[in-house]
Amino acid sequence: MFNNTQFPRARKFWYQGKLHDWSRANIHPMSHVLHYGTSVFEGIRAYSTSEGPAIFRLPEHMDRFIHSAETLSMEVPYSKEEMVRAIKLVMKENKLTSAYIRPLLFYSYGNLGLVPKFSPVELVIGAWEWGAYLGEKAEKGVHVYIVPWRRVHHSQLKMTAKIGGCYVQSAISGTEARSLGFDEALFLNLEGHIAEGPGENIFIVKDGVLQTNDKTESVLEGITRGSILEMAKDFGFETRISPMTKEEFFQADEAFFCGTAVEIAPIVRVTDGSIGQGEKKEYAIGKGEAGEITLRLAKAYKDAVSGKTKKYENWLTYVHD
Ligand SMILES: Cc1ncc(COP(=O)(O)O)c(C=O)c1O
Repeated sequence: MFNNTQFPRARKFWYQGKLHDWSRANIHPMSHVLHYGTSVFEGIRAYSTSEGPAIFRLPEHMDRFIHSAETLSMEVPYSKEEMVRAIKLVMKENKLTSAYIRPLLFYSYGNLGLVPKFSPVELVIGAWEWGAYLGEKAEKGVHVYIVPWRRVHHSQLKMTAKIGGCYVQSAISGTEARSLGFDEALFLNLEGHIAEGPGENIFIVKDGVLQTNDKTESVLEGITRGSILEMAKDFGFETRISPMTKEEFFQADEAFFCGTAVEIAPIVRVTDGSIGQGEKKEYAIGKGEAGEITLRLAKAYKDAVSGKTKKYENWLTYVHD
C-alpha cells in the first residue's frame, strides 16, 4: 500500500491500458529501469480554465516524449493518439481541475543485462495536484547555487531527451543546493557557460533584451522556454539566443528560471560554488528583487495557460471534448 500524501488528489494511475488504484502498484523490483534508469518521461501541466481543465502544449510534450523514447531505442507500444486519450482519462478519473501529469515509458521486467533486449517497454501515467515547484515564496525570487559539477555534455548524451537516468545529476545537485540553504541548483556546462537548472531553463534580461541559450549549450530546450520566447517577441522585446557567460549572468538586470514545473521564477541572488577549493562568492541579480520584465512575462504566462489570452488558446488541449 502506498499513501498519496505527496501526490494530492491522485486516486488512480494508468498502467498498460488500465486504471489502477494509486495505493496498489505492482512493478517487479528486478525491472530494468529500477537498476539503470532506462526510462523517459514528460512533465506536463494542466490548468483550470473557464472551459474546464486544459493541458498546456500537449502535442509538443508528446513529440518530445517520442523523441526521448527514440534515444533509448524504445518501441513505444501506444500511438500518440492513444497516449493523449489515456492522459485525458487520468485527468477525468481523478477529477482534476489542474494537475501535473507524468507519463513514463520504461524498460520493465525481462532481463538485467545492460542491454534490455528481453525487457518490454511499458507506459505509466500519473497525475496529481502540484503547486509551486520551488514553493510559494519563489514568486518573489529565488537564490540559486552554481554547483561545482558541470552539466552532462551534449557530446556525451542527447540532452534534448528527458532520460530518467540523466536526472540523477539533477537530483544530486538539487539536494546539495537545498542542503546548503539555497533554493535551487544551477549548472555550468563543460564550456564553463551557464547551462540550466536541474529541471529549468534560464533567461537573463539586460537593457531590455531577453537572452537564453539553446541545445548547443547542453540544455533541454524547454517548451516553456519556447512559449516565453514567442510571448516576448509578441510584446516587442528583443530576444537573443546565445551562450551565456557567468559574467553576463552576474551583471544581468533580471534573471528567471522557466519550466513546466517551476513556471516562471525570478532569480534574485546567486552563489557561485564553481570557483574551486571550496570558495564561494555571492551576487545580487539586478536590484536583488523580481524584475519588471520577468513579472510581466510571468503574468502573461499565467494568463496564457489559463486560457485568458485568445492568441495563445491554440496552446491548450481541453480535457473534456
Ligand atoms: C533539465 C531541464 N531543463 C529544462 C526544462 C524545462 O522544460 P519544459 O519547459 O519543457 O518543462 C526541464 C523540464 O522539463 C528540464 O528537466
